[in-house]
Amino acid sequence: MKHLLIDCDPGHDDALAIMAALANPKYFNVLGITTIGGNQTLKKVTENAKNILSFLNADVPLAAGQAGPLVKPLQTAPEAHGATGMDGPYFDGADYPIASTNGVQFLAEKIRTSKDKVTLVALGPLTNIALLIKNYPELLPQIEEISLMGGGIHHGNQTPLAEFNIYVDPDAAEIVFQSGIPIIMSGLDVTEKAEITVEEINQLKNQGKVSHLAYELLSFYNQSGRQFGFINSPIHDLCAVVYLLKPELFQGSYADIHVITDDSPARGMTYGDFRRIAPEPKNTFVLEDVDRDGFVEVLREALVKLDE
Ligand code: BDR
Ligand code: CA
Repeated sequence: MKHLLIDCDPGHDDALAIMAALANPKYFNVLGITTIGGNQTLKKVTENAKNILSFLNADVPLAAGQAGPLVKPLQTAPEAHGATGMDGPYFDGADYPIASTNGVQFLAEKIRTSKDKVTLVALGPLTNIALLIKNYPELLPQIEEISLMGGGIHHGNQTPLAEFNIYVDPDAAEIVFQSGIPIIMSGLDVTEKAEITVEEINQLKNQGKVSHLAYELLSFYNQSGRQFGFINSPIHDLCAVVYLLKPELFQGSYADIHVITDDSPARGMTYGDFRRIAPEPKNTFVLEDVDRDGFVEVLREALVKLDE
């Protein structure tokens, strides 16, 4: 059993990752969810998180974290996720309770009061996680690992070199990668292989309440992905959860990962020392390949369970 704290900016793929986590209570005890300004403003992504959790009749504490990055202003991604940050489905606006504490303090309290070590799942810019690491260093030994979606060794998506989550807050990302906490990095190298086909998306239609919601989310996301050259849809954030559930579906290598934080064209780029003998510890397991069929099957099974 893993004890999860999920930090996210829903986000179509964030929403599917949350669903996969909540559908597997035998494997995951979800202690809480925090939001971070990223795909859209903090207000919008928090609204989206509330909508998803309320739709699922979930009983997981939710808190809103930082509105924007450590240094630079927030850059959002309406071209990929729409004006709301999770365009597509209609929600009835049912309310969902939200903690009065800031997300960073919330994460710290959850870690401090957990009797077991906690796994952080980071699906957006790493601002909340970096502040947690900086402000509460005494809690680091209580963090088992961080499974994050971010970066890419071979290429970027926001720029030729930088992936969106890391590009938005590279200063935070560098703090996280240098924290010494074991990291599993689901970067674009693997997440762009973790795609769902149009046919598989259409099979979810009218299958059940939650499957149909996934269909609506993925239909919008598939259309928006076309402008970036994708026919099928890479479900980036879902990798960070599926790896924790079924690591055997993935392949990867250990590396010492750094982030370029200066204002050069490489800002937000992740680069790794994969040499056999590297001067610094290789604390990041960089995922490189995935069994695509097995990955999509995990999503399908999760949706079926949530529909029951
Ligand atoms: C990442 O950026 C966001 O748009 C997605 O939710 C994902 O976390 C992919 O680059
Ligand atoms: Ca995300």
